[in-house]
Amino acid sequence: MSVFDDLFGKFKGGKRKVPSFNPQKDTDLESLLPRPPRRIDQRAARKLIAGKRVLITGAGGTIGSELVRQTAAFEPAHLALVDNSEFNLYLIDLEMREAGFDSIMYSTLTDVCRREHLDRTFKLVQPDIVLHAAAFKHVPIVEQNRCAGALTNVLGAKNVFDAAMEAKAESVVFVSTDKAVNPTSFMGATKRIAELYAQALDVAQNDTRFVTVRFGNVLGSTGSVAPLFTRQIAHGGPVTVTHPEISRYFMTTREAVQLVLQAASLDSAEKSVVTHDGRIFVLDMGEPVKILDLAKRMIEAYGLTPGVDIEIRFTGLRPGEKLFEEIFLDTDKLVKTGADGVLLASPAMIDLPLLNPRLCDVIEHALDGEQEALDEAVHHLVPEFQPTGANGEQARQNRPLTR
Ligand SMILES: NC(=O)c1ccc[n+]([C@@H]2O[C@H](COP(=O)([O-])OP(=O)(O)OC[C@H]3O[C@@H](n4cnc5c(N)ncnc54)[C@H](O)[C@@H]3O)[C@@H](O)[C@H]2O)c1
Repeated sequence: MSVFDDLFGKFKGGKRKVPSFNPQKDTDLESLLPRPPRRIDQRAARKLIAGKRVLITGAGGTIGSELVRQTAAFEPAHLALVDNSEFNLYLIDLEMREAGFDSIMYSTLTDVCRREHLDRTFKLVQPDIVLHAAAFKHVPIVEQNRCAGALTNVLGAKNVFDAAMEAKAESVVFVSTDKAVNPTSFMGATKRIAELYAQALDVAQNDTRFVTVRFGNVLGSTGSVAPLFTRQIAHGGPVTVTHPEISRYFMTTREAVQLVLQAASLDSAEKSVVTHDGRIFVLDMGEPVKILDLAKRMIEAYGLTPGVDIEIRFTGLRPGEKLFEEIFLDTDKLVKTGADGVLLASPAMIDLPLLNPRLCDVIEHALDGEQEALDEAVHHLVPEFQPTGANGEQARQNRPLTR
């Protein structure tokens, strides 16, 4: 019996047929997009991965677990799954072993913030390709836990990138977010710092390639609006939207993961874009979607009427939340790649010698739990970071920075 049965019975005397919309199915979520789903040609990705040793961090998460599934299908020699959540790791490990990948799998409960533990894993696995998806991503939670956010998103990323270089991996793909562009949240700023480090490393050496991939919001991912609205609809509403005008770029998990694998393979296959210049891949996601429209479409997808069966309530912007999100800056030069819908941006960079001491400041203050000093250090590295308070007001002036 579906959790919706009671609800539909309540509204329509039990006569209404329960619709088959399932927020966990990419195909159902695709119906909420204002564009046809992108089908990225995966031949280059297959060629890149077949026979290689691949290590995936955050392997138990939404993006990480789909990376595991799609990578496994391309016949890697070895697949190492890294996560510090026992339950998340257990679920994907079980799924993959049941799917017959037992002989190539290694699952390790490793915290990316613990360098010595990570080094042991890298020595053992000797990965050719590293896909880094472990992170904290929830804007309000990271806003309230800034030291923890900086540790996972900055120190964790640094540890993974450094360990990959020491293990002489061919390439590292860093999963980033459009919240890193002109960040208004601490979470977005920490992701931008990790991007800066990946970019600087890419330029500074020729052994390991570092590629960053930025997404918009992944429909159906843990903690995203689709599961939230589903839960609210199941409880009979209200469905909460922070602002009537708020909009986001959306993609499905399948599209996001295809983009990650495509970025890795374009980078090694297409000589025209293979310069060590720290560029960032983005997906052309079409037009942004108003969250209010998405809420209405989801209510309708369940066979109910917005405002009649289910109330939509506006709750006000949360600290760090933007009305609109950009996927790149107007000043970023965008270049088409050989793959349809995949674009390359060239955001600003900071050279490694200048970046390293500032990065160390961020990490030290986060380790010491010095929140004010941490805020200063983050602003110093990401001067475009303009935090917003509740209801989107500017909470603090931008700090000047000489790069
Ligand atoms: N979901 C989205 O809408 C979305 C959109 C754009 C970008 N992204 C980015 O993709 C990445 C992954 O997002 P997701 O939706 O899969 O998140 P998720 O929370 O589902 O998965 C993250 C995984 O990382 C693991 N993890 C967290 N800290 C760790 C640590 N210290 N050591 C090891 N593992 C750790 C978690 O246990 C979890 O399994 C994030 O960087 C996020 O910013 C996500």
